Amino acid sequence: MMTVDKKNLSGLMRRELPAKVYRLLKTVGAEGKKSGLPVYLVGGMVRDLLLKVEHDFDIDIVVEGNGVTFAKYLGERLSCKVVSHSRFGTATLFSQEFGRIDLATAREEYYSSPAALPQVSPSGIEYDLNRRDFSINSMAVRLDGKGFGCLYDHFGGQGDLKAGIIRSLYENSFVDDPTRIFRAIRFQGRFAFRLERATGRQIRNTISLIKQGLVPLARIGDELLRLLSEDDPRRALGRLHALGALELVDAALCSGPVSQRMFGRIIKLFASRTVSRCEPADRAAIFFMALARRMKTRQTEKLLASLRYRKTFVRAVLQGRGNELKVIKKLSAGREPRPSALVRLLDGLSLECLFYFMACTTDKQVVRRLTSYLLDLRDVKPACNGGDLNKLGLKPGPLYDRILSELRDGLLDGKLGGKKQEIEYVTERYL
Ligand code: CTP
Repeated sequence: MMTVDKKNLSGLMRRELPAKVYRLLKTVGAEGKKSGLPVYLVGGMVRDLLLKVEHDFDIDIVVEGNGVTFAKYLGERLSCKVVSHSRFGTATLFSQEFGRIDLATAREEYYSSPAALPQVSPSGIEYDLNRRDFSINSMAVRLDGKGFGCLYDHFGGQGDLKAGIIRSLYENSFVDDPTRIFRAIRFQGRFAFRLERATGRQIRNTISLIKQGLVPLARIGDELLRLLSEDDPRRALGRLHALGALELVDAALCSGPVSQRMFGRIIKLFASRTVSRCEPADRAAIFFMALARRMKTRQTEKLLASLRYRKTFVRAVLQGRGNELKVIKKLSAGREPRPSALVRLLDGLSLECLFYFMACTTDKQVVRRLTSYLLDLRDVKPACNGGDLNKLGLKPGPLYDRILSELRDGLLDGKLGGKKQEIEYVTERYL
């Protein structure tokens, strides 16, 4: 039987969690009690609560009983959309206020073969915690009834949090689910923890089994992306490189000293005024470009397809890698380009792509030209629009685009200034 820690976290929860999240957990607990079901908060949120760091991802709830039925009931109560996966006994609530709330039936998992999707059967919370990745992620807080706030820490998760240790729960954990290799390194990097000795050995063994083709590395795309989305993934990428784990994704990915310097420049760039004055960009895509900087386009395309990344991500990466040489070469030319030529060269490239070019180079002139495009030039528009051209009697059609782009060039290069001059220009040339 599982030991329940005497600790009650309700005070900590009230102090540390945003008030609305605390109220939500109280509601989940109260509804669980009404339905006669024990319900628990589990996973990363419990860990982050004890660490007193913000948790900005999903809320994970485990139900001892039918999690899908309870999710539907709770979804009605909170008026949010519910998507359920009956085969796994899981459901997700999509709430406008709270984002994603994942609910699962407390379950045991059984892996019929390494890295396969697990077979599941309902069970109590102790078995549910047992099947998880690391001690620090295997704690639960009870939410229903009088037990609200009661901590379930069966594997010494609190102790490992204090000591700064990533510890797997059982010998075959990484063979069952090799994505955990990336998770271990990601948490290690994020919290500056160390790998417990046996856990480190299990990781190295599993890497070697994967390299021998004895364990397949499936479903790795998401975990790699999450690692690249960390505030500072440098440490984790360095560790992956040192362990030979990056090669598991693709042998051509590189995270050696040159890449590390590039990662450093990406981080610095994202802390700069230039980036803060632009619309948001996908930083993970830029890290990915840096990792894939030695790969050929076809190779990158194949890898991205196998990782199943979203279209915008793929487009940004391929655009960045495909244009890198040409654009940087042109931007490093000695003669100052006309602003209109700069705009023509860079228009249509995604923000991720432009930031990547900035991180690629140590040439100050290239960075200055890219910055000038981003902050001063790309939003320049002529005072005239299609309506004005129409008023002048010009027939709408492709000619409009040509004229407006000539007006923009004139404005950028300081040859035109203001609507009056633009109208004179159009009248002289086109009427
Ligand atoms: N989990 C696991 N093995 C995995 C993935 C997840 O055991 N391969 C368990 C862990 O208990 C984890 C929980 O599921 O805490 C939730 O997983 P996830 O949301 O992916 O991660 P978090 O721990 O919440 O971490 P993050 O802060 O990165 O969201």
